[in-house]
Amino acid sequence: MTTSLASGHRFQTLFPLALAAFLLLGASRIKIESSCSKTSCQHVLQRVFSFAAMHKTKIRNDDGGDDEHIYHDALRNGSCDVFEGAWVLDEYNSRPLYTEESCPYLTTQVTCLSNGRPDSLYQKWRWKPHACQLPRFDAVKLLESLSNKRLMFIGDSLQRTQWESMVCLVESAIPDCKKSMTKIPPRRIFLAEEYNASIEFYWAPFLVESNADHATKHRVQKRQVKLDSISKHSKNWEGVDVLVFESYVWWMNKPLINATIGSLEMKEYNVTTAYSLALQTLGKWLDSTMNPLTQKAFFMSLSPTHIWSWEWKSGSNGNCFNETTPIQPPYWGIGSSHHIMGVVRDTLQDLKVNVTLLNITQLSEYRKDGHTSVYTERQGKLLTFEQRAQPQIYADCVHWCLPGVPDTWNEMLYMYLLYGPSRH
Ligand SMILES: *[C@@H]1O[C@H](CO)[C@@H](O)[C@H](O)[C@H]1NC(C)=O
Ligand SMILES: *[C@@H]1O[C@H](CO)[C@@H](O)[C@H](O)[C@H]1NC(C)=O
Ligand SMILES: *[C@@H]1O[C@H](CO)[C@@H](O)[C@H](O)[C@H]1NC(C)=O
Ligand SMILES: *[C@@H]1O[C@H](CO)[C@@H](O)[C@H](O)[C@H]1NC(C)=O
Ligand SMILES: *[C@@H]1O[C@H](CO)[C@@H](O)[C@H](O)[C@H]1NC(C)=O
Ligand SMILES: *[C@@H]1O[C@H](CO)[C@@H](O)[C@H](O)[C@H]1NC(C)=O
Repeated sequence: MTTSLASGHRFQTLFPLALAAFLLLGASRIKIESSCSKTSCQHVLQRVFSFAAMHKTKIRNDDGGDDEHIYHDALRNGSCDVFEGAWVLDEYNSRPLYTEESCPYLTTQVTCLSNGRPDSLYQKWRWKPHACQLPRFDAVKLLESLSNKRLMFIGDSLQRTQWESMVCLVESAIPDCKKSMTKIPPRRIFLAEEYNASIEFYWAPFLVESNADHATKHRVQKRQVKLDSISKHSKNWEGVDVLVFESYVWWMNKPLINATIGSLEMKEYNVTTAYSLALQTLGKWLDSTMNPLTQKAFFMSLSPTHIWSWEWKSGSNGNCFNETTPIQPPYWGIGSSHHIMGVVRDTLQDLKVNVTLLNITQLSEYRKDGHTSVYTERQGKLLTFEQRAQPQIYADCVHWCLPGVPDTWNEMLYMYLLYGPSRH
């Protein structure tokens, strides 16, 4: 039955069995925990400040201007759709916005260069909306706006990468002794002490409850989702000032997914239907709990994959491995479900509270060069030389290198946080 359904329509299974393993990286190690001894502090402070100073002069050349009213206008009157644009090679040497060496919080999963990636052009692209510029990312400005607040990223490993990116984007503005990283599974918390601002990640790959919720041991053969249950997670989200949700790839294993509603028996649901029901559960929670005067919510549209190279280079049968430049527009991969995009848009529109959809799918579609490929970990271990020689089996074309594409997602989140419609 499953087979006939699967062949009868255009459902794209994103994860052949080999690739499923890459979703299981919840345990990725943080390379260096920030530490702070009284004696080393001075020295460290100096290093941080000189890096910050260098960084600042560097990014001042960025052609993203400081004309605040332009950004307000862009988002309020819709004079600029920031998601419509093009990748341009950054001629001001302002990219990347941080480096693998400068950010101590990157996990081995995403540090492609240290993991042996030979090319680095993928770090040098900047997203240029057709009708405007993205504002220059100013870590201090963001931290000030987050002071006494919590920003939380909720979702799967892709969302964890976005969180890591955000931490790296702000951390260079904070001296070592004034920041910390804590794990309280399924949460990870980066704290900027002087601002009393936290940037957190919460593992919930389906957003609603499921049997894959364990922060590190979520390797489950048979996925089961509770479409109408969310309180186990959502009680940890209450009162959080800025919520950023994301969920996609975990749903896309097969055209059907085992799920329950209430005490009804487990049964197989059409993935689109199941996703929609789960999102309604989230929506109900948001409508009943969120205070639109003090809280903001965002939803990241799906992160595309580049698993089949014949999609952009006909006749080839590789994947994202060895790709070093973006795809020229127009391009849309078949793994990115228009159905699910539509479900997200419609469900969010029907809510009483405002949830901003950050539509990063199209811009990320072009970035076949941005994935971790074979320069990453698998089940907590760096790929071996032999494994790297077999990209057809081992390349990860789902996750992204950092610095990289998720930094741009955060530049957009930054723009909305600072210049988006204010609710005060
Ligand atoms: C620090 O931030 C938390 C939550 O973001 C808030 O509850 C608390 O009151 C803040 N502390 C101070 C001293 O303002
Ligand atoms: C749902 O669960 C049943 C029983 O464990 C299993 O046979 C079936 O393959 C599962 N379906 C999917 C889509 O995973
Ligand atoms: C799932 O639902 C969508 C939208 O209702 C439909 O287009 C699609 O054919 C369904 N898929 C299956 C496998 O039934
Ligand atoms: C990678 O791409 C380059 C240029 O497109 C090509 O010459 C080279 O053979 C490729 N390497 C592998 C291992 O596929
Ligand atoms: C997202 O952006 C793409 C391209 O800009 C557009 O085609 C699509 O309709 C947008 N999706 C939603 C849900 O807004
Ligand atoms: C939602 O945002 C719009 C502008 O984007 C604003 O007019 C409206 O008042 C907001 N609604 C709530 C409940 O905050």
